Amino acid sequence: MREVETRESLNLIIVDDYEALSRAGADWLAEGIRAKPDAVIVAATGTTPMGMYIELAQRRLRGLIEPSRLRLFQLDAYLGLASDDRRALFNWTRRSFIEPLGIVEANVVRLAGDAPDPWEACRAYDAAVRRVGGFDISILGLGPNGHLGFNEPPSAPDAPTRVVELTPESIVSNARYWGGQEQVPRQALTCGMDLLLAARRTLLLVSGAHKHEILHRAINGPQTPEVPASYLQLASNVTVLADRAAWQGL
Ligand code: PGA
Repeated sequence: MREVETRESLNLIIVDDYEALSRAGADWLAEGIRAKPDAVIVAATGTTPMGMYIELAQRRLRGLIEPSRLRLFQLDAYLGLASDDRRALFNWTRRSFIEPLGIVEANVVRLAGDAPDPWEACRAYDAAVRRVGGFDISILGLGPNGHLGFNEPPSAPDAPTRVVELTPESIVSNARYWGGQEQVPRQALTCGMDLLLAARRTLLLVSGAHKHEILHRAINGPQTPEVPASYLQLASNVTVLADRAAWQGL
């Protein structure tokens, strides 16, 4: 069962569970690919979108979608990890999105967390996004602290691509991927708020009861740097896709 509602600029889609969320997310992106096969896209890692990416990969194998011409930009990166480190977010994107969807490597732009000058890497990334006219499609998860990518609170809506310090919440939340909090890098590079909020279509995926409170603050609360995702209320064409556990009658 699916409920659809529009609240200010946000389209809300509420589905029963994670499987339904993954299918609905795949439907959403499949439509975007059909409309523009070479769309410029930024796509999150994290646990939430993985089911959607698996569903997309299966549809590709069945010949239902042709995502190989998408032009992909990396959303965020830990600072200082070697490019061949399994834990580098780019390599997670490679395993979960680039390879299963057959995206041509020449059409992928990294956010180079291992660059000798990471600030210069951020500027180069910003320039590359602007050269292609910005993002057509943005697929985001919702951080437990309201972050988008690694735009940690506080993040202003005009914050550019930059090097950031991770907040304690993000370190706790990512400890599961690192075998403990102590191992989690303290700094990261993130695609800027300015670029994300200017995307022509955005999908925010939210699953699980532990996201209920922050989802409430993101869509109903004041727009504030303390909840970077709250600025999505001001962006155009944003779809919030949540399961019932996250929604709980919001
Ligand atoms: P998650 O991460 O999908 O693993 O919950 C979301 C995020 O931190 O942005």
